[in-house]
Amino acid sequence: MRPIRKAVFPVAGLGTRFLPATKALPNEMLPVIDKPLIQYAVEEAVAAGITELIFIAGRNKRAIEDHFDSVYELEKELLGRDKLELLETVRHILPDNVNFMVVRQHAPLGLGHAILCAEPLVGNEPFAVILADDLIDAQVPAILQLVQAAHQYQGSILGVTTIPAAESDQYGVVTGRPAGDRVLRVEHIVEKPAAPGVDCIQGVAGRYVLESGIFDCLRQCERGANGEYQLTDGIALLLETGSPVYSYRYEGTRYDCGSKQGLFSATIAMGKKYHGLQV
Ligand code: UTP
Repeated sequence: MRPIRKAVFPVAGLGTRFLPATKALPNEMLPVIDKPLIQYAVEEAVAAGITELIFIAGRNKRAIEDHFDSVYELEKELLGRDKLELLETVRHILPDNVNFMVVRQHAPLGLGHAILCAEPLVGNEPFAVILADDLIDAQVPAILQLVQAAHQYQGSILGVTTIPAAESDQYGVVTGRPAGDRVLRVEHIVEKPAAPGVDCIQGVAGRYVLESGIFDCLRQCERGANGEYQLTDGIALLLETGSPVYSYRYEGTRYDCGSKQGLFSATIAMGKKYHGLQV
């Protein structure tokens, strides 16, 4: 597999679960303590050696672009007040060798449609996908774990987590045969299936490494669950083409910060762990 240099960040969703907070503020800009969710996601990609960041943005998402740009007046002010540590935190969000690109998704037609919008910038190479609302606190950055697995197994990798079967209607759910520690060779993937007759399932949660063949598959997809173009349906077609797809149960604690419970839990846990805060 070729090196994975590019990561796609779909940030064009409406974030309706956090209204009214997300009326004017992109939900990816919601903070966990002092950093917005999108910054955690970008730092994870950069830690995995990714240098090309591709944002799929919609209306109302300008704050994300601004966040990764320099703010001359603020920097001058902090320098003038000798607040050098703070100056570093606003100045060096992105290393110099990292590029930032934005594509617009004209309407929130689904995650599959959002990923297809990245095709002109991704081209014909494997790439990562990171959903910023899944915040993963891990010793080895989750997307790096997937990138390593992609090189080892020479195929697309879906980051999964074990979840109670009762929550199957919130996930793309994979089944397959064991191919290694934490790894399944995926045989089936279905978006939001009815709860199967087992206790736990492997749900795809926020991280992917995909071969560029996914774009042709996405183009063939019809609207699926919730009337949206689903990435899961594209991956199901990719499987049919014979392209190898594996799931990787990544190490780390995942917080579903697209939900109030997840953002709340992440705030408490990360506040205690990294900032010494007390409840
Ligand atoms: P979700 O459907 O989980 O989140 O999309 P949402 O739509 O932002 O929020 P709710 O459900 O209304 O509260 C999963 C990810 O896919 C992106 C979202 O930004 C989120 O990161 N997405 C979704 C797009 O970029 N475009 C879409 O058309 C749909």
